[in-house]
Amino acid sequence: MEVAPITFEQALSPENMKESPMSQFLDWYEFQSRTNPFDPSPMILSTCGNNMKVDSRVVYLKRVDCESFVFFGNHKTAKGAEMEENNNVALLFYWPHVTRQVRIQGVVEYTTKEEVEEWFATRSRASQIAAWVAHVPVDKRDLIETKRKKEEEFRTAVEVPAPGTWEGYRVIPHTVEFWQGGSDHLHDRITYCRNGRSWTKQRAAP
Ligand SMILES: Cc1cc2nc3c(=O)[nH]c(=O)nc-3n(C[C@H](O)[C@H](O)[C@H](O)COP(=O)(O)O)c2cc1C
Repeated sequence: MEVAPITFEQALSPENMKESPMSQFLDWYEFQSRTNPFDPSPMILSTCGNNMKVDSRVVYLKRVDCESFVFFGNHKTAKGAEMEENNNVALLFYWPHVTRQVRIQGVVEYTTKEEVEEWFATRSRASQIAAWVAHVPVDKRDLIETKRKKEEEFRTAVEVPAPGTWEGYRVIPHTVEFWQGGSDHLHDRITYCRNGRSWTKQRAAP
């Protein structure tokens, strides 16, 4: 599928960016969703546990509010352990057709279990069952049989509950950088830093 690249005439400047990086993020996210058929929600989550080795993987952004970015996942995984050991994380979005990048550093907290259930209930039944199948250590040959057993287990359940090890994670940013590619490699970067309850923003160079 071909998507025409978009270039921006107007340079980024602290004056034309919103007061809060969350509002600015929503502005860019909404633009990305409106102008591009590809899902803008995958983001790279980087973590670093006690072994001091940085690890990255893609997760889906599921919610944004005025102070946090929320995603969900199985806690009994490498990222779960790493975030438990060190709650400093980084998130990264890259949207190629607009050559925009958003880089976020922050600390991660858990959402409530109610939020996990609420989000889990929005998933298709097939993906709810798949979340349970993922809990059973099976090799590829057993996968179909395990899925059949889980479907049978939840056959009469009106709601499939989230597996107990699933968590919601809320990343509360302290630094957010917006990067926009420009013509002739004249790129722009604006960095927001948290200052108590407000934010300062400035052009980053080079
Ligand atoms: C497009 C995409 C979206 C993904 N979304 C999630 C997600 O929302 N939550 C999640 O736990 N894993 C998600 N994954 C899988 C993770 O990238 C990763 O493989 C898995 O969480 C195990 O990572 P870990 O071993 O570092 O904990 C996604 C992968 C891709 C490619």
